[in-house]
Amino acid sequence: MSRVISRKWGHVVVTGGGGFVGSRLCAVLLDAGADVTCVDDLSTGRAENVAALRGRPGFTFVRADVAEELPVDRPADLVLHFASPSSPADCLRLPLHTLDTGSLGTRNALRLAHRADARFVLASASGVYGAPRQNPQDERYRGDVDPVGPRSAHDEAKRFAEALTTAHAETLGTDTCVVRLFNTYGPGMRGDDGRAVPTFVRQALAGEPLTVTGDGLQTRSLCYIDDTVSAVLAAAAHGMRGPVNIGGASEITMLGLARLVIALACSRSEIRYIDRPVDDPAVRRPDIALARDKLGWEPHVPTEEGLRRTIDWFRANV
Ligand SMILES: NC(=O)c1ccc[n+]([C@@H]2O[C@H](COP(=O)([O-])OP(=O)(O)OC[C@H]3O[C@@H](n4cnc5c(N)ncnc54)[C@H](O)[C@@H]3O)[C@@H](O)[C@H]2O)c1
Repeated sequence: MSRVISRKWGHVVVTGGGGFVGSRLCAVLLDAGADVTCVDDLSTGRAENVAALRGRPGFTFVRADVAEELPVDRPADLVLHFASPSSPADCLRLPLHTLDTGSLGTRNALRLAHRADARFVLASASGVYGAPRQNPQDERYRGDVDPVGPRSAHDEAKRFAEALTTAHAETLGTDTCVVRLFNTYGPGMRGDDGRAVPTFVRQALAGEPLTVTGDGLQTRSLCYIDDTVSAVLAAAAHGMRGPVNIGGASEITMLGLARLVIALACSRSEIRYIDRPVDDPAVRRPDIALARDKLGWEPHVPTEEGLRRTIDWFRANV
């Protein structure tokens, strides 16, 4: 395996830096000596994430809705656009906000990057593939998305944001990159964000039944937060335009995940089957050949190890 590409940045703007992935990006960039401006409206982020960063030298927090304004005057050399509701439950609760953030928010973030001649990275999502008919999904797969279905706000916002980013690069020459993240998990998630890992961990630690949707045989791939962050920074440093898939290379069923969490948490919880949401993908796994080839990246943290760290963090913090 070749070395993961990296680069030293001076000033980085992270939209959505108060969220699960964004706050970890801020912390890693600060560790590497960059100044970081986090812009977040805390609509789905955790105030604790920002509180943990506030005392750090070089860190600035700006509370703003990026769909309305992006009030950062200081030029940046990198803009990481991660602001967006992400979990299906948050997107269902905030569909207009999700669409505004993917459209107007992405336009504002692109303008900020373009003005400063900065590199721009869009956090897109496996949602662009919808409920895929191809497994694994490579970057050329065009997806199967219902534009008026319950997941449309999230999936179409990401598809539009990708189109906008591409148009900016092609018409204005903005230095852009699209990273398509698949399910990422780890410490720092909200226990109530509705995603499988935090839901199962919270339930297992509380001794409540783990709510598995449908028959639980639908699959996901999981990527530990540190692996996702190193891939995002490698894509930023590389100069590629993407899109590039970032995610775990193996698949696990939701029933298998629930059983694993119960075992790792030493919990006595049982499993309760509940209705499966409409348009919930039956399979989801990235083909990560492009990331391996161009970035020298692949995930390193095995699922059991990542889940152990996540369970420990939930035990101590939630
Ligand atoms: N975590 C994953 O598994 C995953 C998978 C695919 C894609 N992504 C993408 O990565 C990014 C971060 O996801 P996350 O899991 O950290 O979600 P998150 O909800 O924890 O973080 C998103 C952050 O964006 C902020 N935000 C939302 N709308 C905003 C707006 N209009 N203005 C300013 N701030 C706003 C929220 O307050 C939050 O702090 C998102 O763009 C998401 O679509 C994440």
